[in-house]
Amino acid sequence: MARLSRSQRPAGLGGISVILDCCEVYKNPFCRGSRPTLKGISIVISPSVATKTGVTAKRAFNFNAGPGALPLPVLERIREELLDWRGSGMSVMEMSHRSKEFEGIIADAEQRLRGLLGISEDYAVLFLQGGGSMQFTMAPMNLCLPGKPVDVLHTGMWTAKVIAELKKGIPHHIAASTEPEKFTRVPRTDEIKFSPEASYVHICSNNTIEGTQWHDMPHAGSAPLVADMSSDIASRAIDVNKFGVIYAGAQKNLGPSGTTIVIIRKHLAERADKNLPTLLQYRTHIKEKSLYHTPPTFAIYIVGLVLEWLESSGGIAAMEQRNNTKAKLLYDLLDEGKFYSGPVEKSSRSKMNVVFRVAGGDEAIEKEFAKQAEAAGLVGTPGHRSVGGMRVSLYNAVTLEAVEALTSFMREFQRTRG
Ligand SMILES: Cc1ncc(COP(=O)(O)O)c(C=O)c1O
Repeated sequence: MARLSRSQRPAGLGGISVILDCCEVYKNPFCRGSRPTLKGISIVISPSVATKTGVTAKRAFNFNAGPGALPLPVLERIREELLDWRGSGMSVMEMSHRSKEFEGIIADAEQRLRGLLGISEDYAVLFLQGGGSMQFTMAPMNLCLPGKPVDVLHTGMWTAKVIAELKKGIPHHIAASTEPEKFTRVPRTDEIKFSPEASYVHICSNNTIEGTQWHDMPHAGSAPLVADMSSDIASRAIDVNKFGVIYAGAQKNLGPSGTTIVIIRKHLAERADKNLPTLLQYRTHIKEKSLYHTPPTFAIYIVGLVLEWLESSGGIAAMEQRNNTKAKLLYDLLDEGKFYSGPVEKSSRSKMNVVFRVAGGDEAIEKEFAKQAEAAGLVGTPGHRSVGGMRVSLYNAVTLEAVEALTSFMREFQRTRG
């Protein structure tokens, strides 16, 4: 049963702006709530949840690039289990990482990820720390073979950071770069020139800042493909077997910040020199099942809940469909006219991070856009500080309702400022 309460806000965009607070009571931990609609007036729907103390918590529509939105049912579940995790008498935060309870939590998260992404036993699934950025160093340290360069497909700021790490002493080769086009697309197959014998090929599957995404992964021949999937892991179906390593910070599609998921073909971990610092060897974490040292226990627990939510939402295929629908809604609007424009080539458009300019890139209007959006409960629309403009992140936990609210806002903003 959904309980609705209504409150009126001052008109922000010249029209009437009505906020509907949708207090959703979940029958089971991961069921979906209902969505109210009103015709003829501009509305922003802001879901709220009733806490056990009866206080209503306001929830923004969160378009942040990461850390980003978490599924509401997951947050509810964390709250329910915060003081007493399933009869243990303690919070997961207070548990020993050596306890059977936590061993169950981490094993459960791993199994769910394996099931959702179709990860075979040839691969290890690790929960590490240090973010995607640590992997920029750890991958070459572990995977480089003497005299064999790392090939990089250079598509933006995150691959630039990879290159900066490689420049510290690891042979590398830029197999393709779209820098001359300001990274407004990913390279075409005929532009890629792999080394004859690369240690591995680095790719960033989704470029969070530039708003581009590889829709077809390149064929790297016999060299393992190492993919930074920080901003699109679990958002679409992939064939894990095509990759040597996949890594991703959890804080966009899989949970909170604090843990980095690494999926690695086990035999590749044996390439590393055994004299590397113990903590920086993949083999250490494979051997110890991510429990060589104290892992980020609470973050891993939340990843498990997000994966459970993903399963109950229909799995990766359903999520991909939902993500396609959300992205289409926004890109269709960008394609309608000139007031909003997307710099990215259509074939490379990201379904996770949609970048666009307002009024031809008029910075004053873009600032106003972000300000009014925030006032309407639509948070996180400004682009990355290095590129400006707008960026809207549509991660798995961002609902279709949120994107509909955003596109309604955008139409209204265009009507009054266009
Ligand atoms: C594609 C990509 N790679 C790597 C990173 C760096 O991740 P972290 O901040 O977890 O080190 C980010 C962060 O936004 C990212 O979007």
